[in-house]
Amino acid sequence: MHGAWANGGHGLRTDRTLQKRLRNPGRLVQSVAMADPSKVLYASEPRLDVAEFRRVLVESGLGETRPIDDEARLKTMLDHANLVLTARLDREGKPLVGVARGVTDFSWVCYISKLAVSASAQGLGIGKGLMDEARRQLGPSVAISLISMPDAVGFYERIGMTRMSDAFWFSRKR
Ligand SMILES: CC(C)(COP(=O)(O)OP(=O)(O)OC[C@H]1O[C@@H](n2cnc3c(N)ncnc32)[C@H](O)[C@@H]1OP(=O)(O)O)[C@@H](O)C(=O)NCCC(=O)NCCS
Repeated sequence: MHGAWANGGHGLRTDRTLQKRLRNPGRLVQSVAMADPSKVLYASEPRLDVAEFRRVLVESGLGETRPIDDEARLKTMLDHANLVLTARLDREGKPLVGVARGVTDFSWVCYISKLAVSASAQGLGIGKGLMDEARRQLGPSVAISLISMPDAVGFYERIGMTRMSDAFWFSRKR
C-alpha cells in the first residue's frame, strides 16, 4: 500500500537539460515516454519493498557504492530510516523511479543518506522533486544535510544547497 500521493507538476525542463537530451535524441524520446515529469507521484513509503529499493539503486548507478548484495543490510537501512520518499510514474504498476532515504528528528535536522533516480528517468526533475518533497514534509524548522557523490555535486548546487567546508565524518570500516 503506498502512502499519500502528491502530484509532481514540475513542468518542462530547462534548456540545459534539453541540450543534454538532444545530444542523444533516442534517449530523449525513450525517457520522456517513460517519465513525463508532470505525471510523477511523490509519496512517503515507510514500508518500501527492499527489492524495489535495490532496483532503483542499481538503475541509478549508486549500486557500485551501496551494499546491494547484502539484502539484510538494505532492509535494515529501510527499516530504521524514518523518512522514505518515493517517486513513481503515474501509470499501470506505478513503477518506482526514484527514492530519497533520510534519518531525522523532525525537529532540527535531517540527514539524507540516499537519493537515487533510475538512469532512464534522470534529468527530468525527479531528483529535485524528491528533495522538494523532503523539504515540504520536514517543514522550515528542519535543516537538511547530506554527503554528495562526486558526480552529483553540481546537482546539489543547482537545487540551491549550500556547500559546507566544516562538515566532518568518521568512515565506516565495511
Ligand atoms: C543526482 C541525481 C539524484 C539527480 O536527479 P535527477 O532527477 O537526474 O536531477 P533533476 O532532473 O531533478 O535535476 C535538477 C537540476 O539539476 C541539474 N543536474 C542534474 N544532475 C546534475 C549533475 N550531476 N550535475 C550538475 N547538474 C545536474 C539538472 O540539469 C537540473 O537543472 P535545471 O534546473 O537547469 O533543469 C540523479 O542523477 C542520480 O540518481 N544520480 C546517480 C546517483 C547519485 O549520484 N545520487 C546522489 C547520491 S549523493
